[in-house]
Amino acid sequence: KAHKICVLPGDGIGPEIMSVATKALTAAGQKEGEEFEYMYELIGGAAIDATGSPLPDKTLATAKASDAVLLAAIGGYKWDSYPNEIRPEKGLLKIRSELNAFANLRPAIVPKQEVFSSCQKNRRTSDVIFIEWLVERIARVAFEAARKRNKRLCSVEKSNVLEVSQLWKEVVTKLGKDYPDVELTHMYVDNAAMQLVRNPKYFDVVVTSNLFGDILSDEASMLAGSLGMLPSASISGDGPGIYEPVHGSAPDIAGQDIANPMAMMLSAAMMCRYDLDCPKVSDRLEAAVSQVLDEGLRTGDIFKEGYPNTRKVKCSELSEHL
Ligand code: NAI
Ligand code: MG
Repeated sequence: KAHKICVLPGDGIGPEIMSVATKALTAAGQKEGEEFEYMYELIGGAAIDATGSPLPDKTLATAKASDAVLLAAIGGYKWDSYPNEIRPEKGLLKIRSELNAFANLRPAIVPKQEVFSSCQKNRRTSDVIFIEWLVERIARVAFEAARKRNKRLCSVEKSNVLEVSQLWKEVVTKLGKDYPDVELTHMYVDNAAMQLVRNPKYFDVVVTSNLFGDILSDEASMLAGSLGMLPSASISGDGPGIYEPVHGSAPDIAGQDIANPMAMMLSAAMMCRYDLDCPKVSDRLEAAVSQVLDEGLRTGDIFKEGYPNTRKVKCSELSEHL
């Protein structure tokens, strides 16, 4: 039976990178006997132009009826002056909240390690009181993900100084008893910031609160070299998750066929691992990305003039090498 994917190309480079990613996904699926059915819908600026709304009802209905949502990016200069309620970002925020996608997963070094952070909507971080169930909810997602990876989880907090972090640590430690197969470690956030640069391979899955996660994942993104390499997922644990690159719609390079589609492809790989239960397709997609890099093929954002054994390629050209 085919996996039903709600495909949202969105704006800017979105359609260009989505085209490469769906081709790669279909090809990887064929080799593993998995089929994908793509249901294309509008979101963001493209949806505003066509319907007046950044998240039309039809898009939301399709997303809710799907097994997973694959989203490229939204936004662009054209809609920057529009009133708040009809801006492209509204579509993104609304689909995340409608699908209750509270856990944000950000693999940092492709494809080796992940930073999980909890999203507490509509609250300033300084006001956040960690209610036990909120901590347990994000920690459970992290333990489950660690189980699917290398069975190592590092919980990052600041319990020597912050009282809320003490509750965090207690809840995570207690939940760890349910996961005896996962090796749980604890680290203070300042040390984690240092170790991430000094010894990034130490980490596999990291679980932390929203503010720490935002800072650490931006730091970690630089280890990967380019925004164009970084996938992410927003998931609820049940119901369809949303899989999308960390980067935006890159209007400065849209329509030129020079965007890096790897973040989009790796987002599709996350979708296969975390939502569709076809880890072999995920492995193939990640291997395809590694192979393209090993062969020296580079889109502009990761190409350096004069660097040996590399060649600059177009976005669409990459689909011929998958
Ligand atoms: P951006 O991520 O779109 O671009 C930042 C820089 O990185 C640009 O120079 C761009 O060319 C480059 N870049 C990004 N992705 C790339 C890729 N795949 N390959 C090669 N180069 C890439 O962020 P920016 O410029 O701040 O925002 C542009 C638009 O995107 C805005 O309208 C913003 O609201 C929207 N945006 C949407 C997001 C989403 O859909 N989740 C997230 C961030 C921004
Ligand atoms: Mg950030």
